[in-house]
Amino acid sequence: MSKIGVLTSGGDAPGMNVAIRAVVKTANYYQLDVMGIQYGYQGLIEGKIQRLTSSKVEDIADKGGTILKTSRSSEFMLETGRKKAIKVLKKFDINFLVVIGGEGSLKGAEKLHELGIKVIGIPGTIDNDLAYTDYSIGFDTTLNTVLECIGKIKDTDFSHDKTTIVEVMGRYCGDLALYSALAGGGEIISTPERKLDFETICSKLHLRISSGKHDNLVIITERMFDLQELQRYIEEKLNISVRTTVLGFIQRGGKPSAFDRVLASKMGIAAVELLIKGHSVQTIGIKENKIIHKELKNVNAEIIDKQDKYRLLERLLH
Ligand code: F6P
Repeated sequence: MSKIGVLTSGGDAPGMNVAIRAVVKTANYYQLDVMGIQYGYQGLIEGKIQRLTSSKVEDIADKGGTILKTSRSSEFMLETGRKKAIKVLKKFDINFLVVIGGEGSLKGAEKLHELGIKVIGIPGTIDNDLAYTDYSIGFDTTLNTVLECIGKIKDTDFSHDKTTIVEVMGRYCGDLALYSALAGGGEIISTPERKLDFETICSKLHLRISSGKHDNLVIITERMFDLQELQRYIEEKLNISVRTTVLGFIQRGGKPSAFDRVLASKMGIAAVELLIKGHSVQTIGIKENKIIHKELKNVNAEIIDKQDKYRLLERLLH
């Protein structure tokens, strides 16, 4: 068997390093070498590749980000770019590739398979927007970061009887907002799956304020509204002072949580073992607490209506 290449691509996610570590350690366990490809697909096209030894991944498990660095490559979207990538893989004697990333990155892996490379995907994205898996690496850590930030905002909201709109990441997936609210982080939420219009947000706020609750936190998934407009609308309609906080990139950094570390380890090991067994064009996931694999063509960041979770939320937020 030739060498295994590993790369991280797209937005970074806490726990990617743990997955890299698991890939290297597992490959070495089976006497295989691993080549680390830097800067995702762009670095692959440019031949930014170095051998990754066990000692290089020894102390990376608690580090956020990705030691391999990452990028979003527009060149790789073109067939010419992908053909360049294949040439580089051949030059470095890499016939097997593990790709750690979100939807676009995993779809990129499928394209490489079409050009003759054996590929396995590992879901690494804070958005948790991949329908085939219950969790992606990074989501749990980010959720904890969001809850920590929200907790701090709530302290000051309470002291000042203030209403705050908090925007969380997620691309087109409401999981960060949904799970934050389930964990007690917010009173009103609007997500792509359950979008509330300005009027409904105001009437929910009005109800709460009339019942004597003057500190309120509204969690909104990014890309849904113009937040300045929403803030002005609430202020004018309810005659209260509102603040807006966009949590932004603080959500992507930080030490991975224990959950993400264990998940990333399990997924990294599974990826290498699948390759060794001769599988390809598969992506690793977790369903009902079991590590699974599916064909890469199943990777879609479709909006899933997590009805069971929203039903729970109805019991909590009223
Ligand atoms: O996919 C991860 C993510 O952080 C999304 O939540 C967010 O919309 C996007 O990446 C931001 O992308 P960029 O880093 O390119 O600004």
